[in-house]
Amino acid sequence: MSLETAGLPAAPEYRETALEGVDHIEFFVGNARQAAHFYRSAFGFDVVAYSGPETGVRDRASYVLRQGQVTLVMTAPLSPDGEVADHVRLHGDGVRAMAFGVDDAAAAYQDAIARGARAVAEPHVLEDAHGAVRLATVRTFGDTVHTFVERAEYSGPFLPGYREERKSGAGAGLQVVDHCVCNVELSRMDEWVSWYNRVFGFDVFQEFDEDDIATQYSALRSKVVRGGRGGSITLPINEPAKGLRKSQVEEYLDYYHGPGVQHIALHTGDIVESVDWLRRQGAEFLRAPDRYYELLPDRVGEIDEDLEQLRRLNILVDRDEHGYLLQIFTRPVEDRPTLFFEVIQRKGCRGFGKGNFQALFESIEREQEARGNL
Ligand code: FE2
Repeated sequence: MSLETAGLPAAPEYRETALEGVDHIEFFVGNARQAAHFYRSAFGFDVVAYSGPETGVRDRASYVLRQGQVTLVMTAPLSPDGEVADHVRLHGDGVRAMAFGVDDAAAAYQDAIARGARAVAEPHVLEDAHGAVRLATVRTFGDTVHTFVERAEYSGPFLPGYREERKSGAGAGLQVVDHCVCNVELSRMDEWVSWYNRVFGFDVFQEFDEDDIATQYSALRSKVVRGGRGGSITLPINEPAKGLRKSQVEEYLDYYHGPGVQHIALHTGDIVESVDWLRRQGAEFLRAPDRYYELLPDRVGEIDEDLEQLRRLNILVDRDEHGYLLQIFTRPVEDRPTLFFEVIQRKGCRGFGKGNFQALFESIEREQEARGNL
């Protein structure tokens, strides 16, 4: 579909404060009960709510996981038909919805539609004994959607139709979604950047090209769009760039069968403690090459953390003019080489680890080679 604005009526300015931040991220998965257990045991999330046949929902089961301000929802189909089963068959487990909190779901939806977004679900109200939530949904890249959630009049555990659960995870110190990275097809990045600019008023915050992010074999281009209240929503958008062999973005697109969310970065206040705990729980991370830590002091200068600890835990460091960041990437959390997580701690730095891309790519390519996909 062409995303050109030509022919569309002039739309009003998107209200700057319309999007308050990431409300939750919903995954469509093959087995939500097991996925919830994985995120609870390996990542420390609490299970706080559930919906399914026991709560009157006939076609799907959903588990709501929470840690800090991060809410993930795992939803599985209960039959071979319908949007959840279709999504899982094509994409495997993956992100269906990035939901944004809003003060007026109907207005956010109408603004987005007027600015060229495609409708998925018109504004509607869900109610139960805890109050009312207003929801509406528009489509973005691939089969991914954005849901607007207006929950000011609601006091329940998640949404109407969900019952409370109290299965606590141990907590890994993860606080908030720092950014969500989207992979789109070759030559489509700029279309989606302008979609986010036009539909939500997001600005391009940073950009990288193949001169920044390339190894001997593969490359990618990336533009980071940001918006929402206080810049609370950050979406780097990647497309593959031409390399000697198949790039990691191409591998993702092949296995996900289209564009989708590549990784979710979760911020922690103490990455050494978080990653130490996550590793002991069995979370699996990419390995940086040994040379990485030999070069690190010269590259990033003085940091608060103990270099030996960072080396032992394989945590990466990068710096910009505002400060530095620490980050680490998990291996894909499904059998398909698609979605993974990042754990990040920012100490002033506003970047995304450009200086680590080289080390990271070499690590990803070692895994790609092992899968026979390089
Ligand atoms: Fe990231």
